Order: sequence, then C-alpha cells, then structure tokens
Amino acid sequence: MKPTPPTQHPKTAAPDHDILDVFAERWSPRAFADRPVEPEKIRRMLEAARWTMSSYNEQPWRYVVASRDEAPEAYERLLGCLNEFNQKWARHAPVLMMSFYKTTFSKNDRPNRCAPHDVGAASAALTFQATAMDLYVHQMAGIQKDVVRETYDVPEDVEPMAGLAVGYLGDPDMLPSKQRKSERASRSRKPLGTFAFGDSWGTPAEVLDE
Ligand SMILES: Cc1cc2nc3c(=O)[nH]c(=O)nc-3n(C[C@H](O)[C@H](O)[C@H](O)COP(=O)(O)O)c2cc1C
Repeated sequence: MKPTPPTQHPKTAAPDHDILDVFAERWSPRAFADRPVEPEKIRRMLEAARWTMSSYNEQPWRYVVASRDEAPEAYERLLGCLNEFNQKWARHAPVLMMSFYKTTFSKNDRPNRCAPHDVGAASAALTFQATAMDLYVHQMAGIQKDVVRETYDVPEDVEPMAGLAVGYLGDPDMLPSKQRKSERASRSRKPLGTFAFGDSWGTPAEVLDE
C-alpha cells in the first residue's frame, strides 16, 4: 500500500529547486496560539543568531527580548514600541523582540557599512532555528523608532531595525477579515532570473539555463 503523503500547510512554498524544509516551511503569521514559548527555545533562537557570520566578526546585532509569561511588564513596553497596525495583531504573540545594529566598528569607531545586512542575517538565522522548533517569527519594519530609543535609552551609535513577533501558530479566525484572507493565501515569489544576473545587469545568470 502506498504511504499517504503528509498534508502540507497551504503556506509551505512550492520551490522550483530543492531547498531545506525550513526554508519552504517558514512564513510570517499574524495569528499566534495562546501558548507560551519555552525559555530554552528562545535561548536556542538567540544562540542561532549568535553564530551568524558578520563583517570583521563585529557581531553588530543587538536584541531586546520580552516574553509575556516571564516578564509581562517588559512585554507591554516592547509592544508599545510597535506601530498601531502591528500592535493589534502582535499583541497575541507570546514573545516579542526588537533588533538593533551598532553602526560603527568597536575597534576603530569607523562606520560599519554591513551592519544592517548582518543584523538581517542574524534575524534570519534566529527565524530558521524557530522554524525547526515549530515556532514562527514575523518581523516588523513598523516600529516607532523614537519610542524605542526613549524606552531603552539606546546608545547613539545603535540603530533600531525591526520588531519580531514569535510564537506557535494560531487560528486565522482570530484575525480581522482582510488579515484572515492573507493568512490563508499561498505565498509567491519572483523567479530566479529577476534577481540573479549574469554578464549584464538584468540578464538572467547563465547558470539558470537548464
Ligand atoms: C524586515 C521586515 C519588515 C517587515 N515589516 C512588516 C510589518 O511592519 N508588518 C507586517 O505585518 N509584516 C511585515 N513584514 C512581513 C512581510 O510582509 C513578509 O515577510 C512578506 O510578505 C513575505 O511573506 P512571508 O514572510 O510569509 O514569506 C516584514 C518582513 C520583514 C523581513
């Protein structure tokens, strides 16, 4: 008898080429379950970020982390740093984080051009580690930078980057109708040839020809 294929979540990517499961399975939900995230899992996510590559190994990323179950007051303060739209859905995520990057190198105070890139890479590592533990991360550009600076007394050479909502998957029915629809919509991406170029700008790389 043929084994029954596992039912895939509708959000799972249908990639054109084989990729690791975590890349296909990650997506950014707005509905989170009312279930706490185990502190050890939060530590593992941060540990994944810790081992990310960075320019000159500067490790320019910084995070503020607040778990609703461990530190409810800190959680509310972090929630207040998001914009109004994001606060509405992110308040259901049991863990919130804020990412930052140090704009200068520690050894010589020169500008670190790659710092925003490196915090993005660290947040990606953290996110895929989450996926491997059945957790989901939804990043948010919609933050109130001035409120973030004031709330955390952020040093001058550190820039707030993005909020992160973390938790287990919830029921889309908890969301307003527009968001519910997008929560159930399949995910799409531009083809490889639109961003991987060969000898001239805009021409798909030769390696993409099959
Ligand atoms: C840096 C960054 C900022 C984002 N900002 C927001 C945001 O403020 N609010 C929101 O609802 N989604 C936000 N998103 C989620 C994106 O819209 C989402 O990643 C994109 O539509 C692709 O969907 P997927 O992550 O499910 O594949 C952000 C994602 C990233 C990586």
